[in-house]
Amino acid sequence: MSQCQPVDAGLSRSATFLVFSILPTDSSIQSVRSVLSNVPDIAKNISIRDVNANLTCVVGIGSQVWDRLVRLPRPAELHPFPEVRGAKQTAVSTPGDILFHIRSERRDMCFELERQLMDQLGGNVRLEDQTVGFRYFDARDLLGFVDGTANPVGTAAISDAVIIPESDNGGDATAVGGSYVVIQKYLHNLKAWKALSTEQQEAIIGRTKSDNIELDDADDGQQQAHKTLATIEDAAGNEHDVLRDNMPFGSPSTGQFGTYFIAYSRKLWVVEKMMERMFIGHPPGLHDRILDFSTPVTGSTFFVPSLNTLTALGDDD
Ligand code: HEM
Repeated sequence: MSQCQPVDAGLSRSATFLVFSILPTDSSIQSVRSVLSNVPDIAKNISIRDVNANLTCVVGIGSQVWDRLVRLPRPAELHPFPEVRGAKQTAVSTPGDILFHIRSERRDMCFELERQLMDQLGGNVRLEDQTVGFRYFDARDLLGFVDGTANPVGTAAISDAVIIPESDNGGDATAVGGSYVVIQKYLHNLKAWKALSTEQQEAIIGRTKSDNIELDDADDGQQQAHKTLATIEDAAGNEHDVLRDNMPFGSPSTGQFGTYFIAYSRKLWVVEKMMERMFIGHPPGLHDRILDFSTPVTGSTFFVPSLNTLTALGDDD
């Protein structure tokens, strides 16, 4: 049975999101392969210093570098993040070979893991983006709403939504115990958002602001709330969940206010369908009104290999 990386670590107080490109030389690829295989050990060495701080690090690998880096068949759905061009906003597709999703209750533990990673990665990578996220009160985003409520709850439900099981393995052996992960960094226009009434904001999100109570869906053909556009059902009426761990980031003094979106799923098409419904609209033309106040500045897709595949990366160099 393949053991998975700690994708289900859950909402933490602090998180660091690191996206890198790897320099395309054989020696850089080889060095990074060895560092990645060592990440669980680096995390273990730091987390023992305060086990209650729940330090975890998930490693994702992008489509462009998969073949050279992993040297195993690529997971069936893995491909670069597809740009989605909507009337109001475009979901941009930006470079990224590796993702580190570091989480802990303590900011210093995230910092230390990033520091030790950088010591080992050295000049073999180019930083595409570094974002430090923080818990904002009762897990609210900077739009003021509780974020993460509809996530699957409990080990079985999370694993069902997120981890590729043995039974999905139609010749896709490398993918078993792994997960797809999609990230997008959004910047908010908080001045414009705050000019809306609370009722208008609630209609956009689909939940009440203070109590976090779900509102009814609009009738067919009307503007849909964010939570409705992001709910995916297949032809048989089955709902497909993903696991989100969004974090606020930014700084009032520089006027930057953002949400770092991250979603894990065992089926990449589910997240891509959400993206399409949000940016193009459902029905088309009625895009997610969150996008009138939020601009994505990054967008990348990665595959999170099982722990066994990750640690075996350094084996045969
Ligand atoms: C629900 C915020 C982007 C997928 C929610 C909720 C909030 C929220 C406040 C309601 C509470 C909850 O269930 O978590 C945001 C913000 C975003 C953002 C601030 C960026 C500006 C996205 C994107 C996707 C997405 C890009 C997917 C591609 C979902 C899903 C739900 C949800 C699946 C749960 C729907 C349900 O079943 O009720 N989001 N979100 N979100 N969001 Fe987002």
